[in-house]
Amino acid sequence: MPLSIANQNKLDAFWAHCVKNQYFNIGYPEYADFDYGSLERFMRFSINNCGDWGEYCNYLLNSFDFEKEVIKYFSQLYRIPFEQSWGYVTNGGTEGNMFGCYLARELYPESTLFYSKDTHYSVAKIVKLLRIKSQVVESLPNGEIDYQDLVLKIKQSGDAHPIIFANLGTTVKGAIDDIKKIQELLAQAGFARRRRSWRKHRHLDDQDQVDASGLHQPQAGSKSSHSATANYALRSETVDALD
Ligand SMILES: Cc1ncc(COP(=O)(O)O)c(C=O)c1O
Repeated sequence: MPLSIANQNKLDAFWAHCVKNQYFNIGYPEYADFDYGSLERFMRFSINNCGDWGEYCNYLLNSFDFEKEVIKYFSQLYRIPFEQSWGYVTNGGTEGNMFGCYLARELYPESTLFYSKDTHYSVAKIVKLLRIKSQVVESLPNGEIDYQDLVLKIKQSGDAHPIIFANLGTTVKGAIDDIKKIQELLAQAGFARRRRSWRKHRHLDDQDQVDASGLHQPQAGSKSSHSATANYALRSETVDALD
């Protein structure tokens, strides 16, 4: 159906608005050089990756092969054998954060989730939606989590299995929470580190990560950015856990 002139004009005005403002979204980590040209022809299809790329799906208009490639890319980036990894591409950062928090809650339903003031606001909504106990931790001026405050609040909570929401690039300041430091400080505070088999989950997007104990950052030189159709992956593994 052709557009009315009024609607066409509205779209033209919006186009001009986007062109004018594309480079001025200070504080939001985003790309400005998208080119979806080669994908344009697929916009006529109702593509939907319902289900799991690892299983058969009778909805044939899926792009599971590509989703699998994304997970493969992240598993290599994080040096996880592909066969031992699993993940999926979410609709954006909020869903990635939510899935990570959901997994943590499933592991430790009674635990408290600790996140810093600089953490993306989706997390404050998510803990309500998922009914997870939570505590906000102070941030340092550079946007990193305030490590001393984190440890203090964990100690005060008496939580045996604190869930720590660590950021790998906060929204405005791009701050990276230092996982090693968190582990060290918790160890100093008397949280014994013992080998135990449990599942560790990472929301491996370019920005935040959810963790129930500690995590590594991707190899140096890896791409880090936020895109409109950001890719997220999660995985599980057996790890040394802070207990
Ligand atoms: C760090 C971080 N996490 C999550 C989000 C939410 O992403 P979305 O709007 O795609 O749900 C953003 C958005 O800017 C973000 O910067």
